[in-house]
Amino acid sequence: METNDIIDQYKNGGASLRDAIKTLRTNISFSSMDKEIKTIVITSVTPHEGKSTLAVFLGLAMAESLQRTLLVECDLRRPMLQNYLKLRPPYSLLDVMGKRATDDIAIIPTKAKYLDLLSAAVLANPVEILGSVRFQTLIDELKPKYDVIILDTPPLGSFIEPAILASKSDGTIIVLKTGATDVAAAQAVVSQLEKAKARILGVVINGVEASGGDYYYYSYYDDDGEKKRKKRKRLGKRRRLRPGRQKRTEKNVPAASKLV
Ligand SMILES: Nc1ncnc2c1ncn2[C@@H]1O[C@H](COP(=O)(O)OP(=O)(O)OP(=O)(O)O)[C@@H](O)[C@H]1O
Ligand SMILES: [Mg+2]
Repeated sequence: METNDIIDQYKNGGASLRDAIKTLRTNISFSSMDKEIKTIVITSVTPHEGKSTLAVFLGLAMAESLQRTLLVECDLRRPMLQNYLKLRPPYSLLDVMGKRATDDIAIIPTKAKYLDLLSAAVLANPVEILGSVRFQTLIDELKPKYDVIILDTPPLGSFIEPAILASKSDGTIIVLKTGATDVAAAQAVVSQLEKAKARILGVVINGVEASGGDYYYYSYYDDDGEKKRKKRKRLGKRRRLRPGRQKRTEKNVPAASKLV
């Protein structure tokens, strides 16, 4: 049986990965001092920047600190959480919303203590579903049962539902993959979130080598644009930048987050 699920990936990812994620967790808890942050939206500008991976890693870090954590699949276009966690939940978000299953049946535990999953399947009308009163009522009903609810969403550069969810959530994290997004596109997403009155907690830079391997690199910029953490597991590799893309440096990346 395949054992190398995303939880193993997190556990075997090395101290630098876990440190980076724990730093993110710590910064969220600092942000929580002003106003409680219970629901967190994870989004990005373009596809495949590492949202779902970060959602699970952050969930694992929250659960490790004994916070009852729920991952909610809100990417109804490319739902990956159950695959990444190698779970086959019998019911999904839609079953709960359609009252075919109660939330305590549809929500299943993951291999990690304190981390649960509410999965979803691909659906044709994600905006209607996630923007519905019924969905918001469900999230409100789940709040007392959890310390943190993490919503994994599609890229905001292409789809509207992350903005809808962000407007109703306590905080939003934008994941940027090194070399994938230019600053102007990131700024457009930030202003879209601002218009939605979302509270942007920060920007996470995911520097990941396309070839995979044990290469993790997360940097975190808080809502003042201040760099909180820079960790790189494997040194000596140059990050690849797409031709024509603006080089993302410490100076220009926070410029996007400075807007937040
Ligand atoms: N830090 C990382 N280290 C190694 N691999 C990573 C990292 N982040 C993401 N990946 C890999 O990159 C791919 C895309 O990641 P992921 O599914 O998390 O992105 P996403 O933003 O959720 O994509 P989508 O827009 O399709 O929902 C996956 O194969 C994942 O395993
Ligand atoms: Mg995803």
